[in-house]
Amino acid sequence: MCGIVGYVGKNQAAPILLDGLAKLEYRGYDSAGIANIVDGKIEINKAKGKLAVLSDLVDGGSKIDSTIGIGHTRWATHGKPSDENSHPHMAEGGKFAIVHNGIIENYIELKANLVASGVQFKSETDSEVVAHLLEKHYEGDLLAAVKKTVEHLEGSYALGIVCTDYPDRFVAVRRSSPLIVGISDEGNFVASDIPAILAYTRKIYHLNDGDIVDLYADSVKIYDSELNPVMKQVEVVTWDVKAAEKGGYDCFMHKEIEEQPRALHDTISPRIDEQGKIVLDGVNLTKEDIEKCDKIYIVACGSAYHVGIVGKYTIEKLTRKPVEVDLASEFRYRDPIVNENTLMIIISQSGETADTLAALKEGKRMGARILSIVNVVGSSIANESDDVLYTWAGPEIAVATTKAYSTQLSMIYLIALYMADKLGMISEEELRSNLSALLDVPNLVEEIIKKNDPIVRELAEKYKEIDHAYYLGRNLDYAVAMEASLKLKEVSYVHSEAYAAGELKHGTISLIEQDTLVVALASCSKVLEKTLSNIEEVKSRGALVLTLTSEGNTAVESVSDHVIYLPKTKEMFMPSLEVVPMQMLGYYMAIARGCDVDKPRNLAKSVTVE
Ligand code: G6P
Repeated sequence: MCGIVGYVGKNQAAPILLDGLAKLEYRGYDSAGIANIVDGKIEINKAKGKLAVLSDLVDGGSKIDSTIGIGHTRWATHGKPSDENSHPHMAEGGKFAIVHNGIIENYIELKANLVASGVQFKSETDSEVVAHLLEKHYEGDLLAAVKKTVEHLEGSYALGIVCTDYPDRFVAVRRSSPLIVGISDEGNFVASDIPAILAYTRKIYHLNDGDIVDLYADSVKIYDSELNPVMKQVEVVTWDVKAAEKGGYDCFMHKEIEEQPRALHDTISPRIDEQGKIVLDGVNLTKEDIEKCDKIYIVACGSAYHVGIVGKYTIEKLTRKPVEVDLASEFRYRDPIVNENTLMIIISQSGETADTLAALKEGKRMGARILSIVNVVGSSIANESDDVLYTWAGPEIAVATTKAYSTQLSMIYLIALYMADKLGMISEEELRSNLSALLDVPNLVEEIIKKNDPIVRELAEKYKEIDHAYYLGRNLDYAVAMEASLKLKEVSYVHSEAYAAGELKHGTISLIEQDTLVVALASCSKVLEKTLSNIEEVKSRGALVLTLTSEGNTAVESVSDHVIYLPKTKEMFMPSLEVVPMQMLGYYMAIARGCDVDKPRNLAKSVTVE
């Protein structure tokens, strides 16, 4: 999705903006642009295509003599990718330029009114209305014009605004789209995400919905939507700058797969105290709250939704509370049955996914208690929740999630065990043995990565020409099959589908022919025999079968072409092990097929539009 950077300070702005935009490339984009105030006039440079096209156009920014500017990478929603539709957009008089991330939902009406009053639009975007509205409402007071403008906007927006009357300041606004403020002695920044400014400062402010920020080279003032001053606490980013860089890896996805042992350890171990009890920082769910809860919804998108499916199996098994898992885009429009006895678990890496945020708000409005699992500190979803559990995965840059998914899984196990413990449904001894197994998961993941790297790489070489793949599993294996299938298709563009193994014969088995790749996940002991029969069904129709199973399940060999054995753990935690070779298969297939692993076509990391 779009990325925004803004800077005002002592240094030349354009190279800083281009550098910041490069750090936001992971979000997905199809064009880029910057606006600077040069000699009292706004100079806009923008171009369709990769950031390198823009950078070449302006010689890396070196010739733009300005210490203030706003920049943008655009992921097209309204209007095709083109130079005209790229941001920044300028008001007709040339006084204002804006960059926008989000969607102005009422732009058609706003545009019609502006056109009726004689305004000529240059682009097909929803965003351009903002520039014209600013000009319309401007009477010499920049903040007043911003306030009036945003009062007319419906939808989501993070905005950066420059005005030629104020060559020493710019304004930013945040509503339901990510935006942080960075402060330093050399100048001040706004950005859609921390990596964009991490090379310049670690001191940041998180903004609330509706906040308006006024930035000068040596000061930052933050106001609420009514322009009342807001006091904020400076927060210091503790990540290593290297965490947001490739650090010698060929791509972020590879690096993030290998960071999983560390990410899992950081997420799990602080939540288990010396007495062997679960400590969920940021969660106030008492025994009474859990007893009162008669239904749990887990709501999320993409891979986070797949975590939710594991959550359903696990929480229902341990607590006997009914759990429904919903795609956020469905939940928000389907009239779900929610009341004050409902617990809603929201899962999101970015904390900004538009559908997930909207579903959260809908659930909250209907009385649900909101517990979120989020990776980005201070994100919109975290801010809107009653209880927040952070996954300590660190910055995840690759579009295809790996370490965020894995850490989300570990939080789901902890929540399930925590609830079971509070309800008295698990014995002390059982809890202790589960937690000790969970604490060992990071080590097992490390072992799996080491052992399987050459094996999976070789398999990918073998399979690289395939057009289709089918992933099968039952129970928790099925939940992982969904994520495994998504990992393959999103980065390597091989068509793949996941099926509950018992369901295949109700239609899809007709697609299995000689050498169709079937990846079978076969770790759940309760249904192992059944899964084996399903594997036989595809094998006897010519499928090429790769099976993942726990050490010792040698019975799978007779129906498989390749077997990956995983170390033994409690079955509840098998998804955390199974997913790892599956992520590696997606990654190595993408490499073998020459795909852009970190930035798959048409995808965005943080989906801030519906
Ligand atoms: C995008 C990403 C997925 C992610 C999904 C939900 O589609 O590519 O990896 O699972 O959004 O994102 P969230 O930030 O809410 O977890």
